[in-house]
Amino acid sequence: MLASFRNTKVMLRSAQQVRAATALTKPILASRLYSSPAPQSSPKPNQFTMGQSSGGGKKGGGRSNLIFGFHPFAIFASLTLLGSGYLMIVKPFLQWTDKQKEERDDKKAEVEGASYTAEQIAAFPFDKKTVVFVLGGPGSGKGTNSARLVSDFGFVHLSAGDLLREEQKRPVSQYGELIAHYIREGLIVPHEITIGLLRNAMMDHPESDRFLIDGFPRNLVQAKAFEDTVCKAKKVLYFECPESILLERLLDRGKTSGRSDDNIESIKKRFRTYVNDSKPVIDAFAEQGKVITISCQGTMDAVYKNTEEHMNKFFKEIGQEPTPSASASAGKKD
Ligand code: C5P
Ligand code: MG
Repeated sequence: MLASFRNTKVMLRSAQQVRAATALTKPILASRLYSSPAPQSSPKPNQFTMGQSSGGGKKGGGRSNLIFGFHPFAIFASLTLLGSGYLMIVKPFLQWTDKQKEERDDKKAEVEGASYTAEQIAAFPFDKKTVVFVLGGPGSGKGTNSARLVSDFGFVHLSAGDLLREEQKRPVSQYGELIAHYIREGLIVPHEITIGLLRNAMMDHPESDRFLIDGFPRNLVQAKAFEDTVCKAKKVLYFECPESILLERLLDRGKTSGRSDDNIESIKKRFRTYVNDSKPVIDAFAEQGKVITISCQGTMDAVYKNTEEHMNKFFKEIGQEPTPSASASAGKKD
């Protein structure tokens, strides 16, 4: 499309230049052709009379040198002008537009974040990683407990909500407005975006074998897409908490969190989404026997102690040392 537009421009330019060159060279052509004054009666050379005059008398004999009605010199001069026009105007213009395109492509790459090539993604050993999903209603303590699990078991903590908020804030992100809207409305962001962010974040930590993925999957579509394109989770930690406690915590957190969705209108929408979309995910994993349920009631330490015990048991079950071999955190507390 762009190429054909460019070609049309070049052709238009070329046609203008031919006309300009012809106009310029015609007087020269005439003076050379008619070194002796042309007879008054001779018709002016033009496209329609050229052919007829070529076989004419001595005075009009010069016209037989014309090619398609133009003197070879005129054609040569036109071509020279065209060539220099191309070199001086068209070529720099094309180079400039190419540079612009390169700059746009660079910006696009930035927008897509730390993107990896298809080969790099295919080569990354997602299946060899121990992935644990951390689920529960908003404010149930997913982030708080994940942070402690990071230091005790060497997980990398990836919070889907935090990754989305970071992406939303990136000034060049093409998804910024979309994410802001979904978060404010308590809706689930299209899974391609969230999975892309999570996959990139996992690949940013090739040294780690353990990932805690917090606040994901939020619906069955996300769960299936992640299993199909990344890997299966080995376990699910579910922080169970009544809505009344969640509401109290979120409103309290909203005083200082600065989050666009810690207000009563957004909280109500988030609860609705949780009941309709997220709870069925927990039920589906429970049917597969993957869910560890932890009550969020009690002191923070008591909740974590319970979580820690379950984790120790889990690592024993899968034949791994609970002690960390690597430790990092890519997320924050919720
Ligand atoms: O987990 P957190 O409460 O930080 O998530 C905030 C918001 O981010 C959610 O209400 C939802 O709009 C969006 N989100 C999502 N998909 C996820 C996690 C979060 O759409 N897996
Ligand atoms: Mg969180």
